[in-house]
Amino acid sequence: MDVMNFQALVEPDRVHKTVYTDQAIFDAEMEKIWERTWVYCGHESQVKAPGDYHAVTIGRQPMVMVRQAGGSVQVLYNRCPHRGVQLVGNQCGNTGSSFVCSYHAWSFWLDGSVRAIPLAKGYEGTRMTRDNPDCSMKRAARVDSYRGFVFASLHADVPPLAEFLGEARIAFDDMCDRSPVGEVEVVPICHRVIQHSNWKFFMENQLDALHPSVTHQSTGISAGRVEKRLKAEQGSAPLYYHYLSTFASSFEQWDNVQTLNFPRGHGILKAYMGLRPQDPDTKAYEALLVQAYGVEKTEEFLSRSIHHVLVYPYLSVQSPLQQLRCLRPMGPDKTLSEIWHFRLKGAPEAIYRRSLWYYNLVNSPATMINADDLENWTKGQWGLQSKGGDWVSFHRDYGRDTQDGSTLQSTRGTSEVVMRNQFQAWLQYMQA
Ligand code: FES
Ligand SMILES: [Fe+2]
Repeated sequence: MDVMNFQALVEPDRVHKTVYTDQAIFDAEMEKIWERTWVYCGHESQVKAPGDYHAVTIGRQPMVMVRQAGGSVQVLYNRCPHRGVQLVGNQCGNTGSSFVCSYHAWSFWLDGSVRAIPLAKGYEGTRMTRDNPDCSMKRAARVDSYRGFVFASLHADVPPLAEFLGEARIAFDDMCDRSPVGEVEVVPICHRVIQHSNWKFFMENQLDALHPSVTHQSTGISAGRVEKRLKAEQGSAPLYYHYLSTFASSFEQWDNVQTLNFPRGHGILKAYMGLRPQDPDTKAYEALLVQAYGVEKTEEFLSRSIHHVLVYPYLSVQSPLQQLRCLRPMGPDKTLSEIWHFRLKGAPEAIYRRSLWYYNLVNSPATMINADDLENWTKGQWGLQSKGGDWVSFHRDYGRDTQDGSTLQSTRGTSEVVMRNQFQAWLQYMQA
C-alpha cells in the first residue's frame, strides 16, 4: 500500500488503518490541513489587556496570540528573527509593550515589528538592518475572529473565516446568544489531556451515538440509580446526575438523535439531554433573556437542538453548556486536547455552576466519562498498529445516507455517516 496514495486509503465505506498510524501521513496532515487552513487559537478574553499573550500551536508551528496596543488581536510566530529562539516561554502572561528575546535582547513591538537591536554598531553594511522585514517576527498570514473566538491561518489563500466555518458557526452563535449581552468570557482554567491515540479517534467519537450506551454504561447506570433514588426520596435530583445518566440511554433513544454532517467535515449531534429545567434559577435567567431579546428570540435561542458542534478537524463545542475542546495533534499516536469552558456574560452565577459541573463531571481528566473514551482510543490505536487487519469499517447504514442541500444525514442517529463525511473532507484536504 502506497501511503501517499490517499485516494486508495479512503474508500466510501472503509479506510486503511495507516491513516491513523503512519508518521508520513501525519506529517502530510500537518502540512496539508493544519498549516493550510483556519485553526482555532483561543478566545479574545484570554488576552484582555495590551501585551497579554497566549502561546498556541498551529500544526507544528509555535505561535503566540497577543493583544495589540490598539485593541486588535494578532498571531505571530513565536520565534526571534535573530537566531530563532522562542520569544515567550510561558503558556500565557503579559509581555508589556514589547517582546524581548532572552538570548541577545532584540526587542519587538506587539505586532512583531522590530523595536530595537542592541549594540546596533556591527550591523552597518549587512543586510540585517531594521528596514529588512527579516528583522521582524513573522505573522500568521490571516487572523480573524467570530463572536470573540480567534482563528488564524498560516496560509494566505483561504476562504473567509465565516465561509470556512459554514454551518458550524452555530457553535459560537448558540453559545453567545445564551448570554443576555450576547457574549461569553473564558474561565481561565484549561484542563490538558494527552491521548495516546490519533486525533481522528476524538473527532469521530464526538458524533458517535453508537458508543455511549456501551462505553459509558457503568457510569450512566450508576448515576441513573442515584438520580432515581433521590427523586423518590426528595422529589428531584440535581441536574448533574442527569448529565451522567443520559449516557446510558437505549439504542432506540440514540437512534432518534440525528447527526447533521456538513461540508469540510463539520457536523452537529442534535440535543438529547432536554436541558430546559423549570427551577427558579432557570426562570430568573430566562427572564433576563426575554428582557434582552424578547419572547420569540429567546425561545428560538433556547430551543435549538444541539449537543455538540464539530469544527473539523480540531474543535468540539458544546454550546448549550459552554464547553469547548480543541485538539493539538502531536504525532500519529499522540494528541493533546485543551478543555475550556466559558461564562455567559450577564447570566446568574447558578447558570455558570451548571457549566462548571459539566466541565468537571464529563469533560475533565478526572471524570469516568472521559476515561472510558480515552481507554477505547488507546486500545483502538494498539489494534490498528497490529497486523490483525488492514481496514477500519464505517459500514453502518452505508448506502442509506440522504443529502439535504449540502447537509448529509442518515435515517439513524447511530449511523456511521459521520465518519464517512469526515473522511471525504480529509481526502479533499489531502489531495488539494
Ligand atoms: S536569538 Fe533572539 S536576540 Fe539573539
Ligand atoms: Fe464517549
